[in-house]
Amino acid sequence: MNIAEAPAQPQITRLDDYRAPDYLIDTVSLEFELDASETRVSSKLKMRRNPEGQGGPCILNGEYLTLVSIALDGKTLAGNEYQRTTDTLLLPQVPASFELEVVTLIHPDQNTALEGLYHSGAILCTQCEAEGFRRITYYPDRPDVMAVFTVTLIADAKKWPMLLANGNRQASGEMEDGRHWVRWHDPHPKPSYLFALVAGDLYCQQDQFTTMSGRQVLLEIYVDPENHNKCDHALNSLKQAMRWDEDVYGREYDLDVFMIVAVNDFNMGAMENKGLNIFNAACVLASPETATDADFYTIQSIVGHEYFHNWSGNRVTCRDWFQLSLKEGFTVLRDQQFSADMNSAAVQRIDDVDQLRSMQFAEDAGPMAHPVRPDSYIEISNFYTVTIYEKGAEVVGMLKTLTGPEGFRKGTDLYFSRHDGQAVTTDDFVKAIEDANQLDLTQFKRWYSQAGTPVLIVEAHYDADKQVLELTLRQSCPATPGQPEKQPFVIPVAMGLLSSSGASLPLQLDTETSAVDAETRVLTLTEQSQTFRFIHLTEEPVVSVLRGFSAPVKVKFERDNETLAFLMAHDRDSFNRWDAGQQLLIQIMLRMVEQYQSDKTLDLPEILLDRLQHVLDDPSIDPALVARMLSLPSENYLAAQMTIADVDAIHAVRKYVKQQIAQRLKAGFNTRYQALNQAQVYEFNASQMAQRSLKNVCLGYLMATGDPMQTQRCLKQMKQADNMTDLLAGLRLMVDQPGPEREHALRAFYEQWQHDRQVVDKWLTVQAVSDLPDALFRVKALLKHPAFSMKNPNNVRALIGQFCRNNPVHFHAKDGSGYRFLAEQILLLDKLNPQVAARQLGAFNSWRRYDAERQALMKKSLSDIAGAQDLSADVYEIVNKYLA
Ligand code: ARG
Ligand code: ZN
Repeated sequence: MNIAEAPAQPQITRLDDYRAPDYLIDTVSLEFELDASETRVSSKLKMRRNPEGQGGPCILNGEYLTLVSIALDGKTLAGNEYQRTTDTLLLPQVPASFELEVVTLIHPDQNTALEGLYHSGAILCTQCEAEGFRRITYYPDRPDVMAVFTVTLIADAKKWPMLLANGNRQASGEMEDGRHWVRWHDPHPKPSYLFALVAGDLYCQQDQFTTMSGRQVLLEIYVDPENHNKCDHALNSLKQAMRWDEDVYGREYDLDVFMIVAVNDFNMGAMENKGLNIFNAACVLASPETATDADFYTIQSIVGHEYFHNWSGNRVTCRDWFQLSLKEGFTVLRDQQFSADMNSAAVQRIDDVDQLRSMQFAEDAGPMAHPVRPDSYIEISNFYTVTIYEKGAEVVGMLKTLTGPEGFRKGTDLYFSRHDGQAVTTDDFVKAIEDANQLDLTQFKRWYSQAGTPVLIVEAHYDADKQVLELTLRQSCPATPGQPEKQPFVIPVAMGLLSSSGASLPLQLDTETSAVDAETRVLTLTEQSQTFRFIHLTEEPVVSVLRGFSAPVKVKFERDNETLAFLMAHDRDSFNRWDAGQQLLIQIMLRMVEQYQSDKTLDLPEILLDRLQHVLDDPSIDPALVARMLSLPSENYLAAQMTIADVDAIHAVRKYVKQQIAQRLKAGFNTRYQALNQAQVYEFNASQMAQRSLKNVCLGYLMATGDPMQTQRCLKQMKQADNMTDLLAGLRLMVDQPGPEREHALRAFYEQWQHDRQVVDKWLTVQAVSDLPDALFRVKALLKHPAFSMKNPNNVRALIGQFCRNNPVHFHAKDGSGYRFLAEQILLLDKLNPQVAARQLGAFNSWRRYDAERQALMKKSLSDIAGAQDLSADVYEIVNKYLA
């Protein structure tokens, strides 16, 4: 047995190097003798040579494992009969089929990376995606090796009364030494990344679901006993998701039990392990007193997301990790559709696009830009990105637009039936959509292979004599790392034409004999430039393009304030009404930034105030839409629209605009606030959420007037609030105001909620994103607060992450203090949890888009990180791509 040196530099993995596995596994039997300090893992693998492999030796992955013994077909191997490196085990001589028995020891207590088996509070649990299983035992830890698992868990019966793993419970028993055991069997072959186990002393809430074919499924949610009253919402969401996937995609659940477990320490949101989803507690626990509407909403969508993976991810899985978006992009689309159906479709679309533009567009324009199907990576954990997830969802959404709902369903039916039980590629997915619809999607597939956000340039010319509108659509896509040139994309452009009174005009192209029978039609742009001629237009139409955000592109379409204001009032598409408002705000605010920079008076055009006044006073618009139309674009998003981002100017302008709107519309905000501020029993539904969101937007503007009366009103709302939405909205506003009331509000909030982790995280965030000059000082002090632990990813994200991403004026302080702070924290974190450390680097993503001094300071901080000893592969990859 020999352990070679670890490679000096992290290695690159490439899609082009993909080879089928040399050995396959039919069945796996695992036995865990569980204990927090040392767990003994005995594995029995029935392996055989893959006829489609390359005939190479049998190599298994394994990291941080203490090897106890290896036996081949019952015979223990001597040290010279196998070779070990820090991360592999190689068996030079094996028969065509054999049984391999390996015993290893692992140490959950010492596992702060939260990959593999780890200890969280009083729970032992696993996280194996993407490559965590190799920290549990030696195994070909790749998704195209699928096997049937039988798992026996043995543990102290008092300490760990609940022992859970994937599949169905098969047998259990007591042992004489005070331990007990439970055996689980999962009949569905699965890759190692979907393996899970949980041990703990947990409260379990149960329910039932009858599937479409009449099978009874037991539903169970396991949580720390103190959270027993926070399970209802997740359980309801689960039942909604199960029914919805049957109705909309024809997908039925396939085991006797479906379990969800909440853990406090978790790197991501949640994980779709077969039959045993493990969730970040923040993404599952909710009660009206402790969770906001946004939390309830997110929980519903994540419970849906993980459940939907049972088909899009588990029954049909990924061949390799370059195909990650095969399951994630599609499953995000599915959870977005689900949320839209359960709540408001228009609001869902607005919020999804808002997130895509602010996060994914920035990623696509920065040094980590990568295609939806990347072609290389150093550390796969770094590729669980908004591009893989959110842009991936947009790409599948465009396939749906191009095939229509029925054609798309035919395509997904074919995909699921053709590939059930297989590990496949994004090409296989597209092929199924093509075959079911007799389509050629060759060019469309560029969305998977080319990175960068395409720019759609729109020009419209109306010829009154001919009654013709010429609409020219052009596309281009900026260079991204490794991709200097791009080929044209297939861009579906949903559009419509409006008369001056706001009526829909007929949509007839010069090549057609009649107008389409719809107010929106989809033009498909496939060339670099195409002109569409609309005929029989007796007046000059107002053009509405990219309705519903039909493609993930940036639109360049010169329109004056009046046209945008008109669309904001009259577009037939709610998404575009909101979007026209945002474009109007951006156009106006960017001009004001220039005025600010050259010391000119800030000019806020009357037309904007007038439009916002109408929106606020219009009772026919869904209050949730009103709330969003009245919300200003974020400082980060405004910064992304500038060649050189000027954080201070943006901050000042945004504040000024907010105050001006507040002053001018004060009466309207007052009226609506009062009308919406009715006592009612909290319910999670679209209508109540809409009311609360508009009410709190109104309160925000009223507070911006600076009127002390409004502070009293805010304090009153906090005092009377019976739900976290109204309480937290009040606290946020109080914290941006200096003075004794602010400190008092923060102290009182903490005293009331210090026992609740989810609420304490909100308390940390409120302070991290505060506008006041002492924000960084406070954040540093909070690092030492008993409520904060660097080992807890939710704490890190709530405090450090929120400060660096959502407090731009302070993070980008001219003296570089924010940058130095982040660099120090990243280096500390990297020793504990590389995944979380690497995530925090994202705050430096756009570093080249700031002024020279700030660039120099950020570069210095990045270089300090890059130069540190023993960086993880995670941080190494990102910091070096940023500096490249
Ligand atoms: N598959 C999970 C989800 O989308 C994400 C888990 C990724 N975990 C990780 N450590 N990279 O829901
Ligand atoms: Zn997912």
